[in-house]
Amino acid sequence: EKVYINGRIVPHHEAKISIFDRGFLFGDGVYEVMVQIGETFFYGKEHLDRLVGCLKKIKLDFDVSTLPKEIERLLTASKLNAKDCLVYIQVTRGVAVRKHSFPKTGKPTIIMYATPFTLPDINQKSIATITTEDNRWHRCDIKATSLLGNVMANDQAAEQGMYESIFIRDGRVTEASHCNVFFVKNSIVYTHPADTYILDGITRQIIIQLCKDLKIAFREEPILEENLTTMDEAFLSGTTTQIASIGRIDDHLFDPDGSIGPITRKLQQAFLELKR
Ligand code: PDD
Repeated sequence: EKVYINGRIVPHHEAKISIFDRGFLFGDGVYEVMVQIGETFFYGKEHLDRLVGCLKKIKLDFDVSTLPKEIERLLTASKLNAKDCLVYIQVTRGVAVRKHSFPKTGKPTIIMYATPFTLPDINQKSIATITTEDNRWHRCDIKATSLLGNVMANDQAAEQGMYESIFIRDGRVTEASHCNVFFVKNSIVYTHPADTYILDGITRQIIIQLCKDLKIAFREEPILEENLTTMDEAFLSGTTTQIASIGRIDDHLFDPDGSIGPITRKLQQAFLELKR
């Protein structure tokens, strides 16, 4: 497998990163995950714009203008031109003597890889999730590589044979370890507002637009933990997850008969029809 590192494309075992890289020592970096479906990146511009926004938020000076060309080079080297694939991009603050404040000199480290990707089947059965305390920091709007809170939460779900952990902060549902979370109650779609407690997912933004287009009532309001079991439908969204119906949260079953709720279904279908 070929990877991209600071302008070079090399077999992955030849790519070397210093142990003094701040991405490695501090998790001082940001990343993106996007998918190419057929010949085009699915909302690629939005993903790159979010990367620019996150770089700005962490005061990391990196020029993304050459990225689209560099991604093309990577895809060619990976023999993934015009194929369904996932591209991972990570920019860190680079190599410096270990000191918490930002180094005055030095340049960012950029790595990328592309890997074949199969879109999940929307007819997959509803997925099982657990709730867990959202003990992450208060800047979840930054797509930071420091993901310890997320991986620990997700592993808690995996240990119980579940797919996702849904975070609860101060009695409110924020998001999940690598997805956004939506609920439906009385035909109104709810999701947490895009403040600093969640990552404003590109898939989330697409769903909000679809609600407008399809005239589905929509509110950016957090759902209270105590009201979770009174919801009619629940679903997850994310680049790799797309729109996935939640069948279970802890011991509560949303779809005892295994069917996907009508509004989740409608959004999944509209999502599939988007130009890809
Ligand atoms: N995860 N919330 C969190 C915490 C995420 O990590 C992600 C994405 C999302 C959904 O964002 P989007 O719709 O833009 O993919 C929400 C990526 C895919 C990952 O870490 O693999």
